[in-house]
Amino acid sequence: MQIYHVPWIYTPVRTVLAIWHQLTKPEIPGLTKCSVVMRERSRVEETIHAMQREGAGSLQVISDFDMTLTRFAHNGKRVPTTHNILDNRLLISEECTKKMRELLNTYYPIEIDPRRTAEEKLPHMVEWWTKVHKLLIQQRIRKDMLARAVKESSAMLRGGYKVFFDRLAEQQVPLLIFSAGVGDVLEEVIRQNLVFHPNVHIISNYMDFDQTGVLTAFKGQLIHTYNKREGALSHAAGLTELQGRPNVLLLGDSLGDLTMADGVSGHKNILTIGFLNDQVEERKDSYINSFDIVLVTDETMDVPNAILRYITSSRDNK
Ligand code: TMP
Ligand code: MG
Repeated sequence: MQIYHVPWIYTPVRTVLAIWHQLTKPEIPGLTKCSVVMRERSRVEETIHAMQREGAGSLQVISDFDMTLTRFAHNGKRVPTTHNILDNRLLISEECTKKMRELLNTYYPIEIDPRRTAEEKLPHMVEWWTKVHKLLIQQRIRKDMLARAVKESSAMLRGGYKVFFDRLAEQQVPLLIFSAGVGDVLEEVIRQNLVFHPNVHIISNYMDFDQTGVLTAFKGQLIHTYNKREGALSHAAGLTELQGRPNVLLLGDSLGDLTMADGVSGHKNILTIGFLNDQVEERKDSYINSFDIVLVTDETMDVPNAILRYITSSRDNK
């Protein structure tokens, strides 16, 4: 409307519109939680309202796994990632554990370093994953031991995970889990938590076993934290279950996770939620500038659950 472009009238009109917007639009639950930080609250609200109008049938959820669907820490102790779940004497030697820890101590600080760009981090990530996978292959890990290793580990999904997975399954919303972790371990974690529903699709690093069930290689192209865009274009884009769903809820804990939706063609609304787990003060600004919603040291799925319930509520009311 032309009248909004007249400078002297612009501010008052905008203020009135903002008040009108607040009065007429229902409050989105979850956004008031104290862990929530947003760069542009009104844009977030508009996106959620647009997604709600189009309902569950237009929605797909794309989520990272380690430290996004799983907790970062519990009772002051770090929760293991899928790679670290393999740290069990059933599967690997003490020597291998030691080497993997050294690699973690070297490369994890690079992964989360706010002063380096993704391009600078990339070769280091390739090096880390390649070295770890080589070590794991040397260990001749047995496929039939994986379930026990997961059971014996302290792996833990975020609080409220069951509501999240069950709601998406009920509403037939596809959930793409896009992980640079180990796919076989990831599947076992969600299976043991009874949430490996038929709407769940996984893109990850899968182990290749020989006829006797011994690990000999990793299948396909390596996925690390900063090449998810390539996987999104080559794998996710081809998943028929995700076609015709132009609204995307994306969850991640790394800035590299933001490229997970790059394979979605014809997208309309994308809402990104970032879990800021670690090095909060150093990384807060970059997370706020990159994700629509940042959840600061929040070990629960409360906020994604509240948003999902809101977006998919139109179907309930019918
Ligand atoms: P994600 O894509 O599901 O988050 O999985 C990747 C995470 O795995 C990443 O944040 C770093 C972590 N990681 C380990 O904890 N140990 C390892 O040995 C490797 C290679 C990665
Ligand atoms: Mg992660």
